[in-house]
Amino acid sequence: RSLHSAVSRRSSHLARRGYSSESTPERKVVVLGAAGGIGQPLSLLMKLNPLVTSLSLYDIAGTPGVAADVSHVNTRSEVAGYQGEGELGKALEGADVVIIPAGVPRKPGMTRDDLFNINAGIVKSLCTAISKYCPTALVNMISNPVNSTVPIAAEVFKKAGTYDEKRLFGVTTLDVVRAKTFYAGKANVPVAGVNVPVIGGHAGITILPLFSQATPKANLDHDVIVALTKRTQDGGTEVVEAKAGKGSATLSMAYAGALFADACLKGLNGVPDVVECSFVQSNVTELPFFASKVRLGKNGVEEVLGLGALSDYEKQGLENLKPELLASIEKGIKFANQ
Ligand code: NAI
Repeated sequence: RSLHSAVSRRSSHLARRGYSSESTPERKVVVLGAAGGIGQPLSLLMKLNPLVTSLSLYDIAGTPGVAADVSHVNTRSEVAGYQGEGELGKALEGADVVIIPAGVPRKPGMTRDDLFNINAGIVKSLCTAISKYCPTALVNMISNPVNSTVPIAAEVFKKAGTYDEKRLFGVTTLDVVRAKTFYAGKANVPVAGVNVPVIGGHAGITILPLFSQATPKANLDHDVIVALTKRTQDGGTEVVEAKAGKGSATLSMAYAGALFADACLKGLNGVPDVVECSFVQSNVTELPFFASKVRLGKNGVEEVLGLGALSDYEKQGLENLKPELLASIEKGIKFANQ
């Protein structure tokens, strides 16, 4: 009898799963930079996502192999690989979500801003192609420095006449993932139930985790909060140093990128109350772009949510980050218009 009930449980589980995946709309997801350290595991994770029907993997080299490999995974989506600029248009056509982890990562001793000279140009040319081939896609920008590459993308889209601030996102999910993990360790609570908003930007002190709003609540000492804040801000550098010249976060970033893309797809599909932190065009502060909680919907950003109540320490952190974040935003805008 127990075998029978196990079998019927399993078949009803499969039926449910089959129903839910086939009843969701067709969605094309494109990964630009799909053969890279982030791109490969991110492509695999997007292949596992039942909301995706078409997975398009683009890079300047190496994508035929990655696409052949990922395509053998027995999940819903069809996989296609595209290699080199001549195939970029085909890769992008019809996209609902474009994820961009293209560009060079940090080496020990480098800041994210040190990547600007190379990555700004890559992002500019990829966004020019997006405005031509899939102007209504949601764009998930992972390439660093995010504080500058998002404003670059906005300027490129404005020039092309395709800019919609609701459709452009800087992916800061890894900061949230780190804040949750580090908080759970100190608060001694199960990590799966932890929530921590992270606001500001995505580099050093511009990353501002709001541990005063973390749930479940834990009465952590101020010096613990300070240490957690610093560890979240330096989480990327922790990985860069541990990898000792072999790049920056790729696996945890792929996880975070897949979480954020999944939230975008759920929003597009009309799932209610999808809220994630992201670096978007914003009126929440005087800065033109800012990361905060965002409600996602059928057109991308449905609502940029406010910051909520901040502790004095967080208020100070917010004031401290503004000049650096503004300078990075302005650097991006200037680059795009030169
Ligand atoms: P990687 O060097 O392993 O891979 C980058 C890939 O981009 C390579 O396969 C390369 O061929 C490709 N690429 C270069 N130019 C391209 C172009 N014009 N079009 C398409 N693809 C192109 O680097 P990794 O580790 O995957 O990092 C990628 C980016 O993600 C870096 O800018 C890194 O700083 C950033 N990053 C962002 C994080 C975030 O939280 N937002 C976290 C970790 C990394």
